[in-house]
Amino acid sequence: MIRVLVAYASERGGTAEIADWAGAALRQAGVDADVRPAGEVTSLDGYDAAVVGGALYAGRWHREARRFVRHHADALAHRPVWLFSSGPLDRTTEERDIAPAPGVAKFARRINAKGHATFGGRLTPDARGFLASKIAKRMSGDYRDRDHVTEWATGIADDLRKAAV
Ligand SMILES: Cc1cc2nc3c(=O)[nH]c(=O)nc-3n(C[C@H](O)[C@H](O)[C@H](O)COP(=O)(O)O)c2cc1C
Repeated sequence: MIRVLVAYASERGGTAEIADWAGAALRQAGVDADVRPAGEVTSLDGYDAAVVGGALYAGRWHREARRFVRHHADALAHRPVWLFSSGPLDRTTEERDIAPAPGVAKFARRINAKGHATFGGRLTPDARGFLASKIAKRMSGDYRDRDHVTEWATGIADDLRKAAV
């Protein structure tokens, strides 16, 4: 069976849940998926492919996602890899594809990623942190769309299964 690692970096749990949704969709589509925090992964041995996701903060991927790609760049470059970002606190991701942040696009090129998706984010009204609480006063809400994530991950499973034939 094809084995996929879904590695994520999340500060407030929103991106972690997106990774769980992606993992569930991959399994539903017939591939084996492990969903793990990027900081806890020491090796990609045994995985045929990877999905790497990070929350967006100040126009950049979460630190752990950046570290993960830097640290495992060679292993990632030798496997099919898809990236995702979660951030926008509005409905734009439902209206059109949002290009990756420049730093994420650079990582995508470096490891020759097969694709990237931007999913909406979530910020709760009671978010802690100096900046987060300020932002939450203006734009809290949950803009994540599980169906969008499921559709994207199901497409990945289809691509992997076709490539394995
Ligand atoms: C301080 C702060 C900065 C943020 N910067 C961005 C940003 O640059 N781009 C973006 O799309 N979303 C931004 N967001 C929204 C977050 O990416 C969103 O809340 C996301 O769902 C957080 O994921 P997490 O719950 O996994 O940490 C920001 C949120 C906070 C609190």
